[in-house]
Amino acid sequence: MANNSEFNSKIGIIAATVGSAVGLGNVWRFPAETQANGGAAFLLVYVICVLLFGIPVMLGEFAIGRAGKSDAIGSYRKLSPGKPWWISGFLGILCSYLILTFYMVVSGWTLEYLYQSISGQLFSPVPGVAEGSNLQFAERMEEYVAGVWPPMIWTWITVAICGAVLCMGVQKGIERVSNILMPLLFLILIILCVTVMTLPNASAGLAYFFHPDFSKITPDVCISALGQAFFSLSLGMGTLITYGSYFHKDTNLTKTAFTVSILDMMVAILVGMIIFPGVMSFGLEGESFGGSALVFVTFPEIFNRMWCPQLWSSLFFILLSVAALTSSISIAEVSIAYFSNHFKIKRVPATSLVMVPLVFLSALSSLSNGVLSDWTIFGYTIFGACDAFTANILMPLGAFIMAVYLGWFAPKGLMKDQLTNGGTIRNMFAAPVMFLLKWITPILIVIIFAASLLMK
Ligand code: TRP
Repeated sequence: MANNSEFNSKIGIIAATVGSAVGLGNVWRFPAETQANGGAAFLLVYVICVLLFGIPVMLGEFAIGRAGKSDAIGSYRKLSPGKPWWISGFLGILCSYLILTFYMVVSGWTLEYLYQSISGQLFSPVPGVAEGSNLQFAERMEEYVAGVWPPMIWTWITVAICGAVLCMGVQKGIERVSNILMPLLFLILIILCVTVMTLPNASAGLAYFFHPDFSKITPDVCISALGQAFFSLSLGMGTLITYGSYFHKDTNLTKTAFTVSILDMMVAILVGMIIFPGVMSFGLEGESFGGSALVFVTFPEIFNRMWCPQLWSSLFFILLSVAALTSSISIAEVSIAYFSNHFKIKRVPATSLVMVPLVFLSALSSLSNGVLSDWTIFGYTIFGACDAFTANILMPLGAFIMAVYLGWFAPKGLMKDQLTNGGTIRNMFAAPVMFLLKWITPILIVIIFAASLLMK
């Protein structure tokens, strides 16, 4: 987005930022992380991370963008010329690229499930598994994900759709569609939540999700919760710096950041309130059940118990695909905006430069769930390594650098000016947010990482 057009309405600003934030991070990643990190204990730390780190860091990105009026690298360059802060923009580009490699794969699964929902295949019996057994969907998911061609082709289809939208420059159109569809996603989640509550044993799932066992809170759980908060809110790689540059000078940054963060958190919590009661009710809990299967198995199980499963399932996966698409676009924009601004090339070549290598890299990521699962990095598959490395290391590092910059090195008064719109509005959060960014965010990030290293 080389031209810095401004968002023209309040709703437009919030909707575009929510479009970036709400995605597979809420629906696919959040439940998997919750389960891997001790249930309710993780939820508690996650909520604290959103409030204590997420909102201030989001405000920081908005402020840098609106003051610098450019992409992540350009804004730093303009605000502090000759200083190396723009390097954190590079970190953001690396991070966004690594995220794309696995985000495309999961978006591909979503499209496959959409296709299977519409065609009805999803609800047909799986050969070799007794009809009515609660292994139907699990078996289907496991087999599908480990396959070679189908998941890879759907990944490529996702890359192609994303590339086409970006080349044609119709993101605004997609965002407009998503403004209508995201409230619908919210509505469907509420309906599913009510449905799930009527199932036997649902209360055990709620207890798992809401009653924390404090002994489960370890430094590693804190790192994962921090990573999840940043991932879900689209933070730590400069995406929202670009968005900030489109904001109007009268936009109330604090209200925007609060609204977006709370909405995003509500979507994640609603998903948890559907998945965990579902898992308990269907007797799916167990050592091997977790990760991606949580969403792609539990949701179909729920639809299967509703009136007209195919209809609900199709509707849900359409909405999830759109949510995934708007988020993918916002991730890809980081690199595309940089390439087109820096090398002064047009949209189409810049987009191709980003998307073409992705065809190969996302295929590797897809295959690492099956035939290439023996290729591991620190015990992670390629897919898992990109996911863990970006969320648990690169994003907190990006946020750390930004907080240190804003707290200590940015032009004096920048943050205060941005939070109060040049002194024209009163903002009781301005002082606490600046205090958090200066002292708490960087120091706590260092402490969490040090504690985790020491306990290894
Ligand atoms: N927040 C999105 C999700 O939850 C993913 C995402 C979009 C993202 N843009 C980002 C993550 C920028 C990190 C940085 O699915």
